[in-house]
Amino acid sequence: MRRVITFTAALSLAAVTAMAGNVVTAVKVKSLKNLQCGAKLVRKHAKFVPVTLYPQTTVKLNDKKALELNKDAKAKVAEVAAFTDGKNVAIIMRWPDKSKDVYKGYESDSYPDGFAVQFAADASNPQKLPYIGMGSDGRPVEIFIRKAYGQGVYEPNGNGDVAHQVNEHNTNYFGKGLKKFKKEVKKLGVLPYQRAFVSEGFRSMTEIKDGSVNYRTDMHYVNKKGGMWGGMVVKPLKDAYAAPSKNELAVAVAAWDGKELQRDGLKRLSSWIAVKLPGAKNKALEAVVTEKAKGDVANGKKEFETNCASCHRDRNFQNAPLYMAPGLENIGGQTTAAYIRESILDPNAVVVPGYNRNAHPNFAWYTVDDKGNRTSTMPPFNYLDKKVVEDIVAYLQTQKAEVAK
Ligand code: HEC
Repeated sequence: MRRVITFTAALSLAAVTAMAGNVVTAVKVKSLKNLQCGAKLVRKHAKFVPVTLYPQTTVKLNDKKALELNKDAKAKVAEVAAFTDGKNVAIIMRWPDKSKDVYKGYESDSYPDGFAVQFAADASNPQKLPYIGMGSDGRPVEIFIRKAYGQGVYEPNGNGDVAHQVNEHNTNYFGKGLKKFKKEVKKLGVLPYQRAFVSEGFRSMTEIKDGSVNYRTDMHYVNKKGGMWGGMVVKPLKDAYAAPSKNELAVAVAAWDGKELQRDGLKRLSSWIAVKLPGAKNKALEAVVTEKAKGDVANGKKEFETNCASCHRDRNFQNAPLYMAPGLENIGGQTTAAYIRESILDPNAVVVPGYNRNAHPNFAWYTVDDKGNRTSTMPPFNYLDKKVVEDIVAYLQTQKAEVAK
């Protein structure tokens, strides 16, 4: 019970720093060893910043029921804070969720709540951050995922799965040996579902299983204020897959709502967040994650209709075929102005992987040459007037779901 009480207090006591945009200051502490997301330290010293999570609408999941449930999905405002002990970083998030959905075993159509924290492998060039949907060729990310699993539930596809399928009568264990075996199985059953991945695009996700990243996660539900999750990832500041640059980290967060049948790519996610470690003086990353393009939105809308709406859908234009190109309904909430600008001028810089090419052969988003290089099927619009590009960028920044009341 204690945990829940302290976490509840955290919700009411911690000051949410109202800063413009996704900029989080990591607070220096002595140790992160026993830290939990509802700890006193968090309550007293965390500098939470509101970060909005927008529904993923780039690609549509092949599930009618889930599509219907998520058709008009609204955005949610989470709170994000960070701590560091000089060697490790803790990213803490809290987000509203009215229903606590915990994985209950092998039920179909039942999905658990969960969250993910994504780190850009390298944020030294903030103009070229990785694609928010799990990185892209040459711009990898490191991702940590935690799902709400009930105690004693064996995780599918993990070590626990083996244990689950082993029927004790079919083992060679007897007497004391069987007792020991059962104990081992039980232990596996209470392991939380937590995973680390490296990724250069959502079909290249590779699990880090070799123990090369010494990380830890935590997840607690608080049934106050209509329901709220707290989550935390603690990991080395610098590991084999990601490192800070100029005392800054580019981080993004995501949340799955089991009630909305969310899983895999169907989730809400933030744009890049600049996490400033002690000694961070550079303003470049901060400038990129908070940039609001200065173009003329009304003219951008017109230019979008002329140049882009034949392929892309957004909140105003829905005439393009469904699988033709990424849905831009939430592009303004999930990316930076720099990313949108780059997408227009140089589509090959980041090629969004799109749908399974076998399932949708007429809607390939790229071609592949002999050497395996991908070329986007979107033509570069580098011939457009600079002002027109800025107008379109400003327009696309308005493309995002409203926040749920
Ligand atoms: C011929 C069809 C076509 C046209 C016209 C087109 N696009 Fe695209 N666009 C695509 C495809 C396919 C992709 C996915 C492959 C890639 O990432 O380049 C894409 C990707 C994008 C992305 C990245 C989306 C994401 O989720 O990260 C943006 C932003 C974008 N386009 C904006 C535009 C804008 C703005 C215009 C008009 C100036 C435009 N596109 C015109 C087909 C098109």
